[in-house]
Amino acid sequence: MSVMRTKSIEHSLEDTEDPEFKLKKNLTAIDLTVFGIGVVIGAGIFTLTGRVAAQYAGPGVVFSFVIAAICCALAALCYAEFASTVPVAGSAYTFSYATLGELVAWVIGWDLLLELMLGASVVAQGWSTYLVTFLDEIGITWPASIGPASDFGWGHVNLAAILLVAVLGALIAIGIKESLRVNLVLVGVKLFIVLFVIVAGLFYVSGANYDPFIPDAADPIEASGLTQPLIQWAFGVEPQTFGVLGIISAASVVFFAYIGFDVVATTAEEARNPQRDLPRGILGSLAICTLLYVAVALVITGMVPYDKIDPDAALASAFTSVGRDGFATLIAAGAVAGLTTVVMTLLIGAIRVVFAMCRDGLLPPRFARTHPSTGTPIRITAAITLTVAVIAGLTPIGKLEEMVNIGTLTAFTLVALAVPVLRHTRPDLDRAFHVPWSPAVPVLAALVCVYLMLNLSIETWLRFLIWMALGFIIYFLYGRTHSRVGLRERGEAVAPVEVD
Ligand code: ALA
Repeated sequence: MSVMRTKSIEHSLEDTEDPEFKLKKNLTAIDLTVFGIGVVIGAGIFTLTGRVAAQYAGPGVVFSFVIAAICCALAALCYAEFASTVPVAGSAYTFSYATLGELVAWVIGWDLLLELMLGASVVAQGWSTYLVTFLDEIGITWPASIGPASDFGWGHVNLAAILLVAVLGALIAIGIKESLRVNLVLVGVKLFIVLFVIVAGLFYVSGANYDPFIPDAADPIEASGLTQPLIQWAFGVEPQTFGVLGIISAASVVFFAYIGFDVVATTAEEARNPQRDLPRGILGSLAICTLLYVAVALVITGMVPYDKIDPDAALASAFTSVGRDGFATLIAAGAVAGLTTVVMTLLIGAIRVVFAMCRDGLLPPRFARTHPSTGTPIRITAAITLTVAVIAGLTPIGKLEEMVNIGTLTAFTLVALAVPVLRHTRPDLDRAFHVPWSPAVPVLAALVCVYLMLNLSIETWLRFLIWMALGFIIYFLYGRTHSRVGLRERGEAVAPVEVD
């Protein structure tokens, strides 16, 4: 029973035709791009831009956004090649099942689940903070006992976050097309707000705030023990605030702002013409988001001296600081809309990954049955919604963004390495999109991802290892023996799926 067994691409494609598990194929390139923008622009731009400029990079945060974008663009090229070759739900998980073997596929699926569920929970908490701020500004008070709390400990119930996740879960259960329609409206609002910040902010930019553009390197970041980055512990490279190293540290943090474009690949199977539209959706949403991020970063650091930027609500506060309180209220409202779509898209991604894993028998397949009238996997939707609602509403997860980053970067690394492997093992496949200069570009993508991962704290690495250990236990106790590929390999009948 080899953990290296692969699932052939033909089998993956055949599975998508199984009526028990069939998803509707009705998404266009525009739907996919909107979907991508919907998940990428979120807490990252509304909060991280300011925090990182103030604490690590000054106006040089613009370069941090560019570095993180380069890392993502390299990974996005690899995703685009895979998604155009293997248009099956599950994204990186499915790609690696076809190339690097079942165990690696399981590891990636498990990482993606971490990225998506934890990402949704973190952003749902951020959403609740913006909601309460917005309500405050229009004179409505949300009771503190059931809202977000800055010193959020165990036992506190964040009802706002729970309600958001529950409503979104219900929308997703009704059907992806319907959910995307809601998404489209909210993405429109979000883009309007971001463009508004850029255009309105331009009038308040002062050249003096760009001097110095890259502030001189300051004292090393106070970090020791478990909070120090792995690179410091392993190689003695001390992270710095400001200067060139500050810009690089900032890049590993603002990476969070780009997370999500890979989720476009998880909807591969629902695309009408995946070979053509997936690369467009993935690369298009990434390009648009990069331009907007760089522009927002330039405007905000031009409006406010970098050491005076509000680390929590930089975009709104920048306008308050120039006497435009009304604009700040509008931006808070936009953030509420903007973060809604992020949570929703991350939830959809998590559902798709679990769906693919159940269909392969690595998790119980009956869990993945789609509902005859909605065409959506209703049980998985309910389970993921409940889990995210509990994490977002009942647990103190304030600092877990780094966990989201590490899960994503691991998946990016493995996907990048899988591109040359698949080209070698299956040169015959029809590739609608090719990564240029393979294997150089995929290897570079993997190296950049690993470098950013090394900049994450030891604490994050340890938590990540615990999550992975849990994944291995589940795989060896259940997935390895129930895997459909394994059953076929041993010539055993693949159990028919029970019908409701
Ligand atoms: N990229 C997403 C955000 O910034 C996760 O909220």
